[in-house]
Amino acid sequence: RGAEGVAADLAGRHVVVSAGGTREPLDPVRYLGNRSSGKQGYALARTAVARGARVTLVAANSELPDPAGADVVRVGTAVQLREAVLKAAADADAVVMAAAVADFRPASYAEGKIKKRDGQEPEPVALVRNPDVLAELSADRPRPGQVVVGFAAETDHVLENGRAKLARKGCDLLVVNEVGERRTFGSERNEAVVLAPDGTETPVPYGPKEALADTVWDLVVPRLG
Ligand code: CTP
Ligand code: CA
Repeated sequence: RGAEGVAADLAGRHVVVSAGGTREPLDPVRYLGNRSSGKQGYALARTAVARGARVTLVAANSELPDPAGADVVRVGTAVQLREAVLKAAADADAVVMAAAVADFRPASYAEGKIKKRDGQEPEPVALVRNPDVLAELSADRPRPGQVVVGFAAETDHVLENGRAKLARKGCDLLVVNEVGERRTFGSERNEAVVLAPDGTETPVPYGPKEALADTVWDLVVPRLG
């Protein structure tokens, strides 16, 4: 046990956590973004530090203060996040993808601000797929035995969609939570179910994001090589 009575069950381990939401630029002043605050990912980083881990936090556009004791790598886009996560994952025991990664980015970037023209309707915005970092890591573990955890925010058919997503992504654990206008985004609390490929479901009652973070580490620890 560590100084504050917290189990040091991640001592000697390197864990990577992604947090926040990526922004995909359209021009120098505009981007496509999402409503992720970064709070859940930062809570995962703080709790991992408290449990003795070396922590790399890959933070996408979050305004939150750097967690004490974690190495923070700041990124903007999904492509930058992929690069930073893969680099840090090379010697990591576990990777937790709490970041909201944009599925698509604008097909082209305008070097100058996009202007409107009198009497003209706007051009549609063409999008292309971003790399799926979680699927890539799960399929091709940078280190054997590495534990890979995903997060899924669903608005409906939460468990059904979660199970299908777990199978599709190939990760070891998937934390599924329900989101909507007034739920989860930016809030201090979260409610979730953690799914594992063997069919295990661990419900996490509505509570602080730290409690969910500790439950995630409780489930990661026995799976570490
Ligand atoms: N994720 C990722 N790379 C992407 C998109 C998502 O690594 N390009 C990760 C997220 O960090 C999260 C998990 O995949 O841990 C699930 O994200 P989610 O958006 O729920 O899944 P998708 O497969 O993108 O499915 P959907 O079509 O429902 O958005
Ligand atoms: Ca998505």
